[in-house]
Amino acid sequence: MRCTVVAGAFWGDEGKGKIISYLALKDKIDVCVRTGSVNAAHTVVYKDKKYALHMVPSTFVYEKGRLLIGAGANIHVPQLLKEIEETSVKDRIGVDPQCSIIEEKHSQMDKSSAHLKGLGTTGWGVGPAQEERARRTGKIARDIPELKSYLTDVVSEVNAAIEADKNVLLEGTQGLMLSLFFGTYPYVTSRDTSASAICAEAGVGPTKVDTVLLVCKSFITRVGAGPLPGELSKEEAVKRGWFETAAGTGRERRSAPFNFDLARRAVLINGATEVAVTKLDILFPACKNAETFEELSNEAKGFIDKIEANIGVPVTIIGTGPAVFDIIDRRRKN
Ligand code: IMP
Ligand code: MG
Repeated sequence: MRCTVVAGAFWGDEGKGKIISYLALKDKIDVCVRTGSVNAAHTVVYKDKKYALHMVPSTFVYEKGRLLIGAGANIHVPQLLKEIEETSVKDRIGVDPQCSIIEEKHSQMDKSSAHLKGLGTTGWGVGPAQEERARRTGKIARDIPELKSYLTDVVSEVNAAIEADKNVLLEGTQGLMLSLFFGTYPYVTSRDTSASAICAEAGVGPTKVDTVLLVCKSFITRVGAGPLPGELSKEEAVKRGWFETAAGTGRERRSAPFNFDLARRAVLINGATEVAVTKLDILFPACKNAETFEELSNEAKGFIDKIEANIGVPVTIIGTGPAVFDIIDRRRKN
């Protein structure tokens, strides 16, 4: 699989953490670079334990893998140190000296700004930290004593791994509709979330990428303010089993049916070569824990076929439950 970029199609929470943790174990991901920031929580359920990772790459479940945080990311130091402890990855995680740092003041600014509150931000302080970065007054990782032992040239490490034909994964956060450039502005996050931006944050050039895997959920959710086409009432969402609360902030997620137009646009802007569809078991409960396409009901197969026909790229991976191996993998067998 060599160099794969994993990006979200909608408003985040598509299940990237689950898909990435599966790829880590199945494909033995030698190096993963996480991008984005602490506002995103990637859920990984492995060996009966549930992790909500805000900083540590979701490939940590593959114990031989190197874990990196790219220069374009922002680091929340206490959260990173806490997760390093929780996942026991102290000896195999590295951060780029140029990652920017989120300080307590940024979180205070995020929570006390009426404008940001109106957008429904997560309150972690990512927007204010990005502002400081653009002003070139913010701290970066090399200024922080607690990060000294983790500093590494992420660019050299990841590009050397690609050069050596190792399996590399670039982990994106959020989804295209939260992109600062392409999303539902101003109800967006403070960075571009597309595949190209993920490469840029990691320091990997576009010619080095083999696969862009776009992750879509079988229905759509969003937290915070802003438009959501086809939005259901909470009552209807509960009835359909689509009602969720956020892994990071605990906030209620709004929900809507799968949107083929948005998926097509996300495929276009990300240059997706493959799509993963998660939580098919929520739409079609009989699919729960299915491991082959043949096991799916005709209705469920029809839904996947309709997605492929609409977006023009293959649906290669299908999530059928929360655990890492609740997956149908239709990629060519390696
Ligand atoms: P911020 O990224 O905290 O500034 O929040 C801006 C918008 O992005 C808000 O609507 C948040 O709810 C949303 N957002 C940020 N990160 C995530 C995420 O990981 N999942 C879902 N929504 C997110
Ligand atoms: Mg999330």
